[in-house]
Amino acid sequence: MSFPTFFSQQARKPSGVFGRLVMSAIFNIGNSKLNRFVNEIMSIQENDHILEIGFGTGKLIYEMARQMDQGLIEGVDFSSTMVSIAQKRNKKHIAGGKVKLLKGNFDEMSFQKKGFNKACSVNTIYFWPKPENTVRKIADLLEPGGKFVAAFEDIAQLEHRQLNNEVFNLYSKEDAKTLLVNAGFLNGVSVQSRKFGSSVLNCAIAIK
Ligand SMILES: C[S@@+](CC[C@H](N)C(=O)[O-])C[C@H]1O[C@@H](n2cnc3c(N)ncnc32)[C@H](O)[C@@H]1O
Repeated sequence: MSFPTFFSQQARKPSGVFGRLVMSAIFNIGNSKLNRFVNEIMSIQENDHILEIGFGTGKLIYEMARQMDQGLIEGVDFSSTMVSIAQKRNKKHIAGGKVKLLKGNFDEMSFQKKGFNKACSVNTIYFWPKPENTVRKIADLLEPGGKFVAAFEDIAQLEHRQLNNEVFNLYSKEDAKTLLVNAGFLNGVSVQSRKFGSSVLNCAIAIK
């Protein structure tokens, strides 16, 4: 297997020693600006009920949980390696009942209760095999007026990286907007972009 394919597969679903040591460091450091951007856009309120799909090392969940006393954040990730790292990081918030971490493939999971008022997913839309179904499911789990933030790196910079494009589906801002509208976010979809040095990071913000 070529390194770009191995790396792309690890980015999609980290595993083993490489996942635990290398991918977790890349997520913690390399994705920190995009996660901070999302944290701001989520504008956490006291009683939020939030869903994060593909939480990785669980840093964003930790930051969001710190800002609320009463709310609940539920996270889903299908990598056991990431779930165990995120569980350690969020130990205090899990014990306090503010955070629940679930291991599984979001597309295949059923949720007993709907009623999330916010949802987010950072650097994961590239890996969704049927993105319209995934986004439709997120919309269905949100209450009317609920907000979904899908964060992704700018297509031009990802095209310069050595990634396997059978693993990574890249999105332009327009692609992301079209996906969210077509999958049921009919009350407004906008994309905010920020430049950090030479990189551009995008957040598509969709209202149900
Ligand atoms: C590139 S990482 C991003 C992690 C984190 N959001 C960040 O910004 O650092 C993608 C994460 O999404 C998870 N993931 C991808 N597809 C998923 C799915 N269908 N269901 C649950 N987790 C998924 C992977 O296991 C991985 O932890």
